[in-house]
Amino acid sequence: MVRSLPLVELLSDQLEGCRVLSVRRGSLTLGVNGEDLGFGSGQVVVKSYNPVAYGMFLKNNSEYLRKKPSLESEAYSVNPEYYRPSGTYQWRKAQHIYEAVQQLPPGERFLPRLLACDETSHSLVLEYVPAQDFRSYYLSGNDKKRKTRELVDHLVELHGIMGKNFRVLYDHVKWQLNVPDGTLTYGLRPRMWKDECNRLRNYLRTIVYEGSEQFWEYLQRRESQNYIASSSDETTQVNNLISRFLGERGIHLENFLASFLRRDLALVYGNDFPGKKRLKTDSNVLHDRYRRGRLALIHGDFNPQNIFNLSMSEQKVTVCDPDEMRIAHRHIDVATALYNIYNMPHTPEQEAYCLELVKRYVEGVKEREKVFLNSGEFITATLETRLKEAIHLFAVDCRFDPAEIRAFTDGDERFNDVPDSDLKVTFLREMFVENLEGFTDYYLSAYGRGLCDLPNAPLLREQILSVEEFFHKSGIVEGSSRALSRGARIRKGLAQVLQE
Ligand SMILES: Nc1ncnc2c1ncn2[C@@H]1O[C@H](COP(=O)(O)OP(=O)(O)O)[C@@H](O)[C@H]1O
Ligand SMILES: [Mg+2]
Repeated sequence: MVRSLPLVELLSDQLEGCRVLSVRRGSLTLGVNGEDLGFGSGQVVVKSYNPVAYGMFLKNNSEYLRKKPSLESEAYSVNPEYYRPSGTYQWRKAQHIYEAVQQLPPGERFLPRLLACDETSHSLVLEYVPAQDFRSYYLSGNDKKRKTRELVDHLVELHGIMGKNFRVLYDHVKWQLNVPDGTLTYGLRPRMWKDECNRLRNYLRTIVYEGSEQFWEYLQRRESQNYIASSSDETTQVNNLISRFLGERGIHLENFLASFLRRDLALVYGNDFPGKKRLKTDSNVLHDRYRRGRLALIHGDFNPQNIFNLSMSEQKVTVCDPDEMRIAHRHIDVATALYNIYNMPHTPEQEAYCLELVKRYVEGVKEREKVFLNSGEFITATLETRLKEAIHLFAVDCRFDPAEIRAFTDGDERFNDVPDSDLKVTFLREMFVENLEGFTDYYLSAYGRGLCDLPNAPLLREQILSVEEFFHKSGIVEGSSRALSRGARIRKGLAQVLQE
C-alpha cells in the first residue's frame, strides 16, 4: 500500500511555487519539490482530482466563462465550492490502475511509480519521469513521419504489455470498484450506450451553443429570453432551446444520436459489443474475446502529451494519465495516436501514410501478441473513431476562450490578421474544416477511393454524411462564403462517392 498524506493545505499553500503541468475542468497536475512533501530531493508530480483547488485557479483566470449563460452548470461553474463527484471515481480508478501496474515485472511497469495518495484532496503523488513527452518531441522540430511511426511502435509495445498482463490488471481493477463507503464506481468497464450518448449529446450541444451564429441569434430573441427566465434552471432551459432550434431545422437531436451511435457500434464492434452482462462476471469470456482480437485493454487517452519519449531499449514504454483506461476496441488508441492535433494529416500523402501506420500496427500486434486483426475492418473502425473524435475535439475547441486561442494559434498565419472579435468563429471553422475536410478529401482522392472496397464502407459513408448534414443544418459551417464553398465541395464529393 502507498502512503497517505493530508495534501490539501499543502497544495493550496504551494500552488504558487509549483510548476503547473496541466489544468483541466476535473483535475490539476503540478510538479512539486519532493522535499516539501517529505519525499527527498527532486521533483514529484501531484495530480489532484479535487476541483476546489483547481476552482481557485479557474476563478482567477477565466473572466470569459462568466460572460455567457451557463450551458452545463457543472462544466462552466467558476464557483470555488464547485465539486464534481466524478473526480472521486476517476481518482480511485487511477489509484487502482497505478497499484495494479506496480505488481508487474520491472520492465513492464508502464506507469510512473505511485508514491502516495491523499483522500482529502483526491490526489496522487507520482514519481517524476525525467523525459520529454511526445508533444514536446513533436514540437521540437520536423520529421513528423518518423515521430508518428515511433508513437505507433510505442503503442504496439504498450498494448503488448497490457495484453500479456490482461488478467493481472483486470483482476486488480475489475469492471467496477467497490469503495470503502459502499458505493460502486468505475473500473475498466467499457463505455456503455448511455455513456456514449451523453457524451455525444454534450459535445453537440456545446458545438451548437458556441459555434452556431444562428443559434446565438435564436437565443437573443425575446421568446427565448422569456423562456430562459421562466425557470431557475437555466441549464435545462438552454438545452431545451438547443433541441427546439435543431428541431426547427429538421434535426431531431435524440434520433440523430441514436442513429449515429447505432452505426458507430456496428462499425466498431460488429456484433461483439463488450457491454454484455456475461463479460462482467466472467473474465474468461473477456480474455477469450481479447485473444480473438475483438476487445482489449486500452489506454483510452493515447495522446502525445501522455506518452514519454524514452528509447524502448533503455526502458520499456512509459505513459501517464491512465484515467480513461478501459475495455474497448484497440483501434481507439490507434486513432488517437494518428489523428491528434500534432499529427493531423493535411495531404493525401499524409492520409495514406496514416493508413500505412494502421497496417504497421496490425502487423505489430500479430507479431507481438499473436492476435490477428482484420486490417480492412480495423481501418474502417479507426476512421469511424476519427470522425467521432473530430466532433469531440471540435467541442473542446469550442470551449477555448479568445486568449487561449490566441496562445494556441500563435505564429499560425491563418489567424495572425484576424481581429479578436472574429477569432473564435474563424478558429472553429478552420479547426472543423481541417479535421473533416481533410478526411473527406482523402476519402475521395484517387488513392483514397480504394477505401470504398473496405468492409462497412457504405456505413461509414452514411456516418460521414449524417455528421456533415448536422453541421450544415445547425449553422455551424455557414455564414462565410469561404465555408460555404468548402461545404459545397464536401457535399459534391460525398455525392460522388455515394454514386460509386
Ligand atoms: N509522473 C510524471 N512525470 C513527469 N511528467 C508528468 C508526470 N505525470 C504527468 N506529467 C506531465 O503532466 C502532464 C499532465 O498530466 P496528466 O496526468 O496527463 O493530466 P491531464 O489529465 O491534465 O492530461 C502530462 O502531459 C505530462 O507531460
Ligand atoms: Mg494527459
